[in-house]
Amino acid sequence: MTIPSVTLNNGVQMPAIDSNCCLSLSPIRMTYPQCHLLHQQQAGYTHFDTAQMYGTEKHIGNILKDAGIPRDKLFITSKLLWNYHSLIEESLDTTLKDLGTDYVDLFLIHWPQMVLYEEGNIRPRNPDGTLKVVESPSFNDVWAVFERLLDTGKVRSIGVSNFSIKTLEELLKTAKVVPSVNQIELHPYLAQTELVEYCKSKGIVVTAYAPTGYSQVLGDPLIVELAAKYKASPAQVVLAWHLARGTTAVPKSTSEAHQKENLNLPTLDSEDVERITALNKGLRICNKPTETGIICGWSVERMGW
Ligand SMILES: NC(=O)c1ccc[n+]([C@@H]2O[C@H](COP(=O)([O-])OP(=O)(O)OC[C@H]3O[C@@H](n4cnc5c(N)ncnc54)[C@H](OP(=O)(O)O)[C@@H]3O)[C@@H](O)[C@H]2O)c1
Repeated sequence: MTIPSVTLNNGVQMPAIDSNCCLSLSPIRMTYPQCHLLHQQQAGYTHFDTAQMYGTEKHIGNILKDAGIPRDKLFITSKLLWNYHSLIEESLDTTLKDLGTDYVDLFLIHWPQMVLYEEGNIRPRNPDGTLKVVESPSFNDVWAVFERLLDTGKVRSIGVSNFSIKTLEELLKTAKVVPSVNQIELHPYLAQTELVEYCKSKGIVVTAYAPTGYSQVLGDPLIVELAAKYKASPAQVVLAWHLARGTTAVPKSTSEAHQKENLNLPTLDSEDVERITALNKGLRICNKPTETGIICGWSVERMGW
């Protein structure tokens, strides 16, 4: 299957599989991200999903500059640092400078909760270890600034991440522009069918993070069985399931072979798509709330999770 593009609610085209540029190693190991991003670019990725929080934007900028790909052939997503809610345009300007570009194709509110701004500390903690969140500005206020960014030419589209039906409903009460994308944890063990359907009904494209579901999902007997049926790897089957449901995905891989494989997916029969969806356990594997039901400073009830 050729990887399709989806049309966002403002007419912008976005490749359905992109390359997640999260840096999971220490920034001291500078050669690592450069190497793995170089493979991604060579593998044929044109959509790069990044965030200031990942610390990779300068590297991506360098790789893309060296690759010499015309800017209009790339789709770049970035996300606002969660403590830069009062310095939004400044934060975006840093991202643009680091990426070496005049605009991003998609700019996301990374999380609905806003974290206290402390110079040089993106995870300020309360004595009990929870994140220090602030009530003002709200995500509605931040969204109003995002809407104004559309007029600056520095962003082509705007969206959100980690929003639920509950927080989207709150956002839409004041929004003038409907988010183009909601990026959420999504895989067969967390199928989020209700949220996916809700987003579709509002014209919001869903992007899956942690889309493979890691070894838990990739080792599931059904996924292994279907991998044999389609002569594909378990990861290819799971990514094909995302596309079959009309959702997009940001797989991350440090392996050149996996990066190539993730752009070459089988087309699943509809009954197999349904069987995979039925694996849902409502299980968060990537962003797990604490035992007391707190995730990044908010309760799961407040998150609508
Ligand atoms: N928007 C948000 O708020 C948010 C929050 C948390 C995380 N995220 C993003 O989501 C991502 C977290 O998800 P993730 O990257 O951990 O999830 P992922 O892409 O589902 O999993 C990555 C793992 O899958 C493996 N993998 C990828 N393709 C494979 C293939 N074809 N065959 C076998 N294994 C394969 C990788 O191993 P190899 O390297 O060996 O290929 C790696 O161990 C991060 O990059 C992060 O940026 C976003």
